[in-house]
Amino acid sequence: MATEGQRVVLITGCSSGIGMGIAVRLARDENQRYYVIATMRDLKRKDKLVEAAGDAYGRTLSLLTLDVCSDESVKQCVDSVKDRHIDILINNAGVGLVGPVEGLSMEDMANVFETNFYGAVRMIKEVMPDMKRRRSGHILVISSVMGLQGVAFNDVYSASKFAIEGFCESLAVQLLKFNVTLSMIEPGPVHTEFEMRMIEDVSKKEFAGTDAETLHHFRTCYLTGAVNIFQALGQTPKDIAKVTQKVIESPRPPFRNLTNPLYTPIVALKYADDTGSLSVHTFYHMLYNLGGVMNVSVGLMKCLSCGCIRKRTISPI
Ligand SMILES: NC(=O)c1ccc[n+]([C@@H]2O[C@H](COP(=O)([O-])OP(=O)(O)OC[C@H]3O[C@@H](n4cnc5c(N)ncnc54)[C@H](OP(=O)(O)O)[C@@H]3O)[C@@H](O)[C@H]2O)c1
Repeated sequence: MATEGQRVVLITGCSSGIGMGIAVRLARDENQRYYVIATMRDLKRKDKLVEAAGDAYGRTLSLLTLDVCSDESVKQCVDSVKDRHIDILINNAGVGLVGPVEGLSMEDMANVFETNFYGAVRMIKEVMPDMKRRRSGHILVISSVMGLQGVAFNDVYSASKFAIEGFCESLAVQLLKFNVTLSMIEPGPVHTEFEMRMIEDVSKKEFAGTDAETLHHFRTCYLTGAVNIFQALGQTPKDIAKVTQKVIESPRPPFRNLTNPLYTPIVALKYADDTGSLSVHTFYHMLYNLGGVMNVSVGLMKCLSCGCIRKRTISPI
């Protein structure tokens, strides 16, 4: 149970990836400022988290079952928290979906919205009234760069993240009146099961109903580029956990938080031209015409961002 002065943090989707990374980082805070309730759909998947948490498990970390797609599960979970008191809610649970729209089932698309959009809304709806009453609280959503800029063949995933961005941008204003803060964390690619599942899914799916030309574009232009981008620019769950903790501890937490500075210019493109043509045409060239150049540039960007060249250039000796 949380001790006095500890902030109670509830995180969704902690069986792997970013959710697990955030849970472990906050639970292992050396000043024990957080009491983390790490939740997951199926507690049989808890072992990796428990191992990574080490002696924090049972002390500053406890586990609860929670499926963000079920009203009953969400209510039961929140009701089982002492006095329903949650200081910080981190909406992390999410699923991906890639592929040509014609080849995806409406059921798969609905599942993406049910988890990424309605799942977060369901959580916020359950926790927010208590925060408003107490006039204190912080809600975070693990969104994505794709919630700010659409990416080809990620149409539905991107739409689900745009939806949650729009929802939160609206709600943040109202919540300020109650001293409740809302923050979005917007990672680019991150090495997690998400990425592995995407590659596995794509190799199994036939995308029936998709014409051969589109399928060829998807497999040769998009997939090859996506794998290279993940390899070159991918962050780790630890990187995202570090940014998340910084946001939580900021005296005035920003609403938007891109975790990967290499993506700032991509997002800036759409604001540089209010007709939208600049970003549509730039992405078109990146996808269809600049495959080879892109791969080299991605490697170069990675190299430049690691800082070794800069350090060598400004060395006084
Ligand atoms: N990886 C990336 O490149 C990336 C980039 C930007 C944003 N994000 C976002 O980061 C978040 C975490 O993703 P990740 O990369 O850490 O992927 P991940 O390793 O696949 O983790 C996703 C987590 O969500 C859980 N989940 C799925 N459906 C759920 C449901 N109905 N109820 C409760 N939990 C559910 C999964 O649990 P199960 O074990 O039960 O399936 C898993 O623990 C997602 O919102 C994703 O959109 C990821």
